[in-house]
Amino acid sequence: MKPGIEWRRPRASADSEQFAADLHAALSRAPKAISPKYFYDEAGSRLFEQICELPEYYPTRTELALLRAHARDMATQFGPQVQLIEYGAGALRKVRLLLDAMPRDSVEFVPVDISGPHLLAACDGLAGDYPGLAIQPLVADFTRPHTLPPCAEGSRRVGFFPGSSIGNFTPSEADAFLRLAASELAGGGLLIGIDLEKDHDVLHAAYNDAAGVTAAFNMNLLDRARQELGAEFPPDGFEHLAFYNPAYRRIEMHLRATRPLELQLGGETYAFHEGETLHTEHSHKYTVSGFQALAQRAGFKPGKVWTDENGWFAVLWLEAQDG
Ligand code: AVI
Repeated sequence: MKPGIEWRRPRASADSEQFAADLHAALSRAPKAISPKYFYDEAGSRLFEQICELPEYYPTRTELALLRAHARDMATQFGPQVQLIEYGAGALRKVRLLLDAMPRDSVEFVPVDISGPHLLAACDGLAGDYPGLAIQPLVADFTRPHTLPPCAEGSRRVGFFPGSSIGNFTPSEADAFLRLAASELAGGGLLIGIDLEKDHDVLHAAYNDAAGVTAAFNMNLLDRARQELGAEFPPDGFEHLAFYNPAYRRIEMHLRATRPLELQLGGETYAFHEGETLHTEHSHKYTVSGFQALAQRAGFKPGKVWTDENGWFAVLWLEAQDG
């Protein structure tokens, strides 16, 4: 393995044209709904990093504590030579805890992220702190078919998908991702973080923080539509709404119209009645056994599980069956 950063297929991040097309489609359907992937432009990614530091937002610190306490045990599941693929790599903070538990020359690291600039900055930082580590960043939408670098002889692929990001997928998207991962990781495995069902007040507070950072994160989608696509709507026309929906076992985030209003986008006019929402995100909460059953149907064999003392968050090891 060659140490240092070797770029693979860099290309532009989800571009404005796609955003415009998806926003038109989102505003045309009933109920109105858009993919949460459009939260994560530069400003949105920064806001998300602030969310992770909030006292009410327990998932990040809980998962970090699990990784800190059990990284060695987790790495033991991986095997001696590993191509470590981080899906939706982001700031590359959590993976450091795994890397610290693995011999430097036993791992080739492949962070996959849709945001090229963000990934480049994160990889630069990682390469500085981990000299000698082989890094092959891949700018791609990991939920769509993509080509991973070839896996070295004697090495096996291990996926890392922390942060309970799978909770933001619809059940069918989660199933599709798990099937894709099970196939590309065949013979290796997946280490995944999931947020667990818990007291609804704890969940509510995590998505309605007192400082209003989650609200700003949600509203950033509209700021982005205004700045990037020239969308027009009353400045105080929408408000943040987040609540737990027990029927679907998920937090839902919406942008709610504060009064009847019109949103103009690319020559089209979309009407909102008072209280009508654009659904921007759902964040599913699981039980360990429920998630293991999903993973099993997608081709994984459940392995070790690490949870915190409150049972709020879990990191699961899933073996990807060979062939
Ligand atoms: C990235 N994802 C797991 C976060 C979550 O908790 O669903 C996104 C988020 N949305 C609002 N706060 C955090």
